Amino acid sequence: MKIAVTGGSGFIGSHVVDQLVAAGHDVLVLDGRRPDYAPHVAHRSVDVVDVDAMTAALRGVDIVYHLAGASDVDKALNDPLGTVRLNVQGTASVAEAARRNNVRRVIFASTVWVYGATVGDSPLGETAPVSLADAGHIYTSTKLAGEMVLHSFAELYDLRFTILRYGIPYGPRMRDALVIAKFVQKALAGQRLTIAGDGLQVRNFVYVEDLARAHVLALDDAAQNEVLALDGAVPVTIREIAETVIELVGTPVAIERVPARPGDYAGRVISTERAAEVLGWHATTPFREGVRQYLDWYTDQRNAEAEQAS
Ligand SMILES: NC(=O)c1ccc[n+]([C@@H]2O[C@H](COP(=O)([O-])OP(=O)(O)OC[C@H]3O[C@@H](n4cnc5c(N)ncnc54)[C@H](O)[C@@H]3O)[C@@H](O)[C@H]2O)c1
Repeated sequence: MKIAVTGGSGFIGSHVVDQLVAAGHDVLVLDGRRPDYAPHVAHRSVDVVDVDAMTAALRGVDIVYHLAGASDVDKALNDPLGTVRLNVQGTASVAEAARRNNVRRVIFASTVWVYGATVGDSPLGETAPVSLADAGHIYTSTKLAGEMVLHSFAELYDLRFTILRYGIPYGPRMRDALVIAKFVQKALAGQRLTIAGDGLQVRNFVYVEDLARAHVLALDDAAQNEVLALDGAVPVTIREIAETVIELVGTPVAIERVPARPGDYAGRVISTERAAEVLGWHATTPFREGVRQYLDWYTDQRNAEAEQAS
């Protein structure tokens, strides 16, 4: 199949591209930057908000994965308009370009942060009602808006979608600013680890290769017009992350507490049963193993950079 991946040069997109290529698909990365990790993969530098450029880029494409989006919630907090432009207008632009090209489906990167705006008892399913007054973070409201745009395009123009609500992903190639990466890098440097709030916030981190596997499974027609939560299997507290990292790195560094960030996702208990039913998907990588994979990747990178510099 001919598959386009917006944001295919980014952290999650790069793993999705790797697995689509491994599954034998003809992959085109649509991203403002080149996919350095996979120079052999076709790439087109496109701004997803530019609907004419997107329309040209999606010619002949069967399926588009739309991952280009604001991913750093702290940057989103400081740039609400830019976040709306990229996450809402960008998603509408991809949907419109897909409609013009009769693309079979748009598979969209949403987030479990949207559950922060839902009401209902835990574990929350994909049909948990949204409370607009609880939109909270601009990142959350723009991802919810992106989901709504896709629902509208399905209803009005029969453009099919799959909405994937990612848990908090981690693993090789993640941004240095993500909490697990920060902890690993600080622990390796012998610096203390800082925790926002009491450190007891629960997250179901999902290993990025598990997440990417779900994207390939989502090509099945069974995933058409489905909303699926892809969360990690086991809840982990921020404090447990710090302790796991300290143990794996093997350096006894201190843990320090700082005030919580405004609008931070408080963590909800989310059901992944629908993804199991529709895709046969479960996150299978144990947290400690995923952190170890990241640590190995990070130290290999650092050693390669040091070798190049010498
Ligand atoms: N990382 C997370 O914690 C997380 C969690 C849930 C959902 N998501 C969502 O998953 C998606 C991918 O996240 P990620 O962590 O891989 O992000 P990332 O920042 O690593 O990658 C995003 C990619 O999109 C590209 N991009 C940004 N704006 C663009 C534009 N206007 N046109 C074309 N390309 C553009 C960037 O160059 C980058 O390669 C995002 O939509 C994000 O909101 C991320």
